[in-house]
Formats: sequence, structure tokens, C-alpha cells
Amino acid sequence: ALLAKARSIGAEFVYEPEDVAKGVREYLNLMEQGLKHSKQAMTMIPTYVTAVPNGTEKGVYLAVDLGGTNFRVCSIHLHGDSKFTLTQAKTPIPKELMIGTSKGLFSFLAKQIEDFVKKHHSDHFEPETSYSQLKLGFTFSFPVEQVALNKGYLIRWTKGFDIQDAIGKDVCELLQTEIDALDLPVRVVALVNDTVGTLMARSYTSPGKAGTLLGAIFGTGTNGAYVEKLPRISKLFNKTENYGEYDSSSGVMVINTEWGAFDNAMKVLPDTPYDRALDKNSVNPGMQMFEKRVSGMFLGEILRNAIVALMADGLFNVAHGTSIDENGPLFTPWSIDTSALSTIQADYTSSYTLTKQLLERDMGVSAASTGDAMAVKALVYGIGKRSARLSAIPIAATAIATGAYEKYKLAKAEAAEGEEVEKIDIGVDGSVVEYYPGFERYLREALRDIQPLVHGAAGLEEAIRIGIAKDGSGVGAALIALVA
Ligand code: BG6
Ligand code: GLC
Repeated sequence: ALLAKARSIGAEFVYEPEDVAKGVREYLNLMEQGLKHSKQAMTMIPTYVTAVPNGTEKGVYLAVDLGGTNFRVCSIHLHGDSKFTLTQAKTPIPKELMIGTSKGLFSFLAKQIEDFVKKHHSDHFEPETSYSQLKLGFTFSFPVEQVALNKGYLIRWTKGFDIQDAIGKDVCELLQTEIDALDLPVRVVALVNDTVGTLMARSYTSPGKAGTLLGAIFGTGTNGAYVEKLPRISKLFNKTENYGEYDSSSGVMVINTEWGAFDNAMKVLPDTPYDRALDKNSVNPGMQMFEKRVSGMFLGEILRNAIVALMADGLFNVAHGTSIDENGPLFTPWSIDTSALSTIQADYTSSYTLTKQLLERDMGVSAASTGDAMAVKALVYGIGKRSARLSAIPIAATAIATGAYEKYKLAKAEAAEGEEVEKIDIGVDGSVVEYYPGFERYLREALRDIQPLVHGAAGLEEAIRIGIAKDGSGVGAALIALVA
């Protein structure tokens, strides 16, 4: 009976082909709205980046990265042959700084930069070279209204951050002020979303003739940035908007979509009691509704809510010797990490040993039965697969809306027998796409599912190449710092 119940909860996460197709149609619609008008939920932010690298770029740059699992400080040496070397230091952001003051957060970041620069670039502190400042690319993975390559005002926080006094401020200036307070030879020259960095990095390391179309993050949060034709970004030409100067010679600009906010209106996204409970308990109810169903920060909490619901139906039977820590993770919101889902999903042992171990170690449940573990796995499967299938939506829509897929089909029609046609290249990064077992496979299944359902999508799945751009955003930030 327990397993039947688990299966029925799991079934609530099934995301059918027609649902995915509806999602793509709505995404296409909201994408156009965002390109035409400012202040849309799915913001479609112009980034002022109008060229993508080709692998020949050279130099040494600093990059810092805030907004993923860790805060990272790196120095990147671009060798100019599509290769680079990277030195880095990672630290988790103390939880209290995520909801404190901007001074608290940015002085902490500056301190990490100081430690790093003193350790790895001490030559810049010697009197005779002190004039040579290090250029820093700031990867700041939150929605920012960018007005220049090194200036952008924070629109809103996402992913559990909530520091009210930073909203509306130029985050480059906030960082530079704290760097200057420590007297460091460092200048913030570029502000970069992690998706833009990922796109740049992928273009640098695997420059195909056609270039990379899309950089996407499926990690703590989810978002994508892609190359758009300037005339299609019609809000840029609206005189009543305050968009700044940019070089229009390439005819394109990278757009940071902020697709985490796709369908906040909930017209097409799936919704279960477990999603609703999560949203209600979040720092930003009603916001980032796509992200809350897809990305790492949230999958553990959806699972926790589903497990708690199943306990009312006999999961973890105390009478059979199972014990549950009532002050433990299962009863503590946001305490289940997405890596727990990855581990359970990958458990193919016959008696679910790995799942039982994880229940004990990370969820405070000891001596769970095999039936319990099976039930938990059924939930995990449903939640993870839905996340991957949802992720197909922006990918399909971007390939279609930009004309990249049309272009591919034309090239294919013109190609000689057996000649390779270059695929649509997508660079991805983040703990979910990297570690969740089967993520890309499920995503591709969903792409195939929509082929007969969405206009212009026939054959789409095989036209798409997805490659990891590991720690791409650091490299990407360096590449943009170089242009600056
Ligand atoms: C990292 C990028 O590799 O991936 C970050 O450098 C990005 O910029 C991160 O935010 C996303 O992954 P996660 O899982 O750490 O959020
Ligand atoms: C959130 C942020 C976005 C970022 C994404 C991935 O959605 O709003 O800017 O790119 O997370 O880190």
C-alpha cells in the first residue's frame, strides 16, 4: 500500500509531452514580450556583450563568482589557443551573510579577494609594480539591470539571498568600495552573469564555425544566456528606456534571459502540494516559479515535503523498528541537499542500501525498511525527471526562436551525402546537470516528445549538442574583463 501511495505521489510529478509542448509555446511568447518591453518577469536582460570569443584571446585576469554553491576567487591565464590555466579558492557563503546587510556581504567578499591576491599575486603589492592593477571580472549570478559592462543595478535577489539594502544598487560599486577599503591593487572592470560567463567560456574552448548559441546553468539556480540579433531586442530602441551605449557592429548581443522567472503566472508550469508548500516557505513567494521546479536549491525541499506527506500514509513505520529524529533534517525546511537526490537516483543496489544509508546520515531516519527506501526512490525519480523535462523548454524555444534550428536544417539540406553539419552548440554548468544521473537523457527525451507537437520542432533533438563548460563562468568573466 505504501509503495502504491509513493507511486501515486510520484505520478503527480509526471510531465507529459503535451505539457512540455505547452511550456515551449508559452516560453516563445514570454521571450518575445521580454525582448520588446522592460520590466517583464522574464526579464531578458541586455548584457552589452556584443561579441563572443574565438579562442585566440590572451592575458591574466582575476574573476570572482558569487551565486553558486561557493564563492570563488580565481585568476585565469588565457593562453590564446583555446586553452587556459586557472588557480582558484572556494569558500561557502556563511548563511547569515545571505540575509544580512550589503556591507556585511561585500566586505566578506573583498576579504577573500585580499587573501587570494596576497597568496597568488604578491608581486602586485611591491612598490615598483603597485601601479599595475589587476583587472577583475565579477560574476554575479542574480538579475541585474545592466547599463554598462561594469555597472549594473540589482533588480532582485534569488536562490535564498535576501539583503534588502542592496536592491537598486550598483553591485560593482559595492564590491569596489570594499576592495578599496582594503587598499588592494584590483579594479572591477566587468559584471557578468554566470550564464553569460558559461556562454563565453564554451565559445572560447570549443569554437565551432557557428559558435555557441546558449550558455545555461542547472545548479543551485537555473538560467540561460544566448546570442540574439540586435533588431529583435526592440526595447533597446525605445527612446523612453535608459539603455546605454554599445558597439553594434556585430549585429548581435548576448541576452541574459532570467528564465528562472519563466511563467511566474503559473499558466503552464506543473504544480503539486509539495511545490506550493515550498513556495510558501521561501523568501520570495510567487517568484522564480520555473527555478523552484528545476534547480538544486529546491529539489531537496520538494522531496522533503513529499516525504513528510507520505509519512501520514505509513512511510517509516516506528512499530517495525524504524526511528525518526523529530528535530532532524526531515522536519527542518531547506535541509535536504540535492546531492541526496542524485545519490538515491543512482542507487541500483537490490536492497536499496545506499538510500538507507543516506536516510540515516542526511535525514535522521534509522533502520528504514526496503519498502521505505523504494518509496523514497519513487519520489526522487518523479522529482528529478520532471526537473530535466522542464529544462527542455527553454532549450527548445531558444533554438527555434533564434532561427538557429532553421539554419541547421538549411545547412543539412544543402550538405553533401555524409557531410557533417555543425550542431547547435549549448554550454552548460552546475551541479544538477553535472551530477544528477540521467539528467541530459531525460531532457533529450522531452525534446523528442515535443517534436511532433510544436511547430518547427521536427528533428530538433538530434540538432543539439550539449557540453559541460566546467567552472566556465570564471573563464567567461576573464574573457569579458579582457574586452573591457
Ligand atoms: C559554477 C560556475 O561552475 O557553476 C558558477 O562557475 C555557477 O558561476 C555554478 O553559478 C552553478 O552551479 P552550482 O551548482 O554551484 O550552483
Ligand atoms: C538565478 C539567478 C540568475 C542565475 C541563476 C543560475 O536564477 O537569478 O541570475 O544565472 O540563478 O545561477
